Amino acid sequence: MDNREDILSGLQISKKYNANTREVEALSDVSFSLKKGEILGIVGESGSGKSTLLKIISGIEKPDKGDLLYKGESYKGAGIVKTGKFLQMIFQDAYGSFDPRMTMRKSLMEISGATEKEILEITGKTGLNKELLDKKPSRLSGGQCQRMSIARALLSHADILLCDEITSALDVSTQAQVVKLLEELKKKNDLSIIFVSHDLALVSTLCDRIMVLKNGVCVEEGETSKIISNPKDAYTKLLLSSVITVN
Ligand SMILES: Nc1ncnc2c1ncn2[C@@H]1O[C@H](COP(=O)(O)OP(=O)(O)OP(=O)(O)O)[C@@H](O)[C@H]1O
Ligand SMILES: [Mg+2]
Repeated sequence: MDNREDILSGLQISKKYNANTREVEALSDVSFSLKKGEILGIVGESGSGKSTLLKIISGIEKPDKGDLLYKGESYKGAGIVKTGKFLQMIFQDAYGSFDPRMTMRKSLMEISGATEKEILEITGKTGLNKELLDKKPSRLSGGQCQRMSIARALLSHADILLCDEITSALDVSTQAQVVKLLEELKKKNDLSIIFVSHDLALVSTLCDRIMVLKNGVCVEEGETSKIISNPKDAYTKLLLSSVITVN
């Protein structure tokens, strides 16, 4: 058994959207927990509710029902999240998350109020050359830009990273650099990460535990090795068989 404390948990979270005349149940009674120093993977097909869950955790969206706990205490979204105190969201479109007119240094300073010393330290840690700090986002590669957004999250001293398809727009080798960085950060900093992805193969190499969403419902959750070797749910089996076929 893993006795580490839960740093973050969600209890029976539900969320409906009104899309035109139709009501979409984006999440129904989804519960999860994340331990300190753990990477939780969330997988599921398009529209299964993955991004909705991260938006609710980060306070971008409000749940209709359910509770969110940080270190056992209920928190109500936006206020805490805006200050970046304990969690930071990282998006698929790294370029879009930086002001195109600013150098990376300026962006890092403005958003996190960090000092030059801290910025140099964190760029080193994220495997980035310090010369990139003088460039604007358009001069960086997708992988470099994504690592900058991770650096920015770390500068705000968040202890939880919420990653929504952050490697999906990257080619395979750049993807590997970002994944390696997350693994290192987890080990060194005891960061906790929720990693949302379509890519079950990638999730199964990176994540300690996996939660499978389908139509807004958690159909399966557990240790990665158990889910991969012995999937219980028909949908998980289907996801796994598609990974095997593709590779
Ligand atoms: N703002 C919104 N208004 C109306 N419906 C929405 C809104 N956001 C999400 N939805 C619907 O909620 C469901 C879940 O969407 P969500 O974005 O969470 O899926 P996802 O698992 O992240 O999908 P993808 O893999 O394509 O990113 C979908 O049916 C989607 O159409
Ligand atoms: Mg999504």
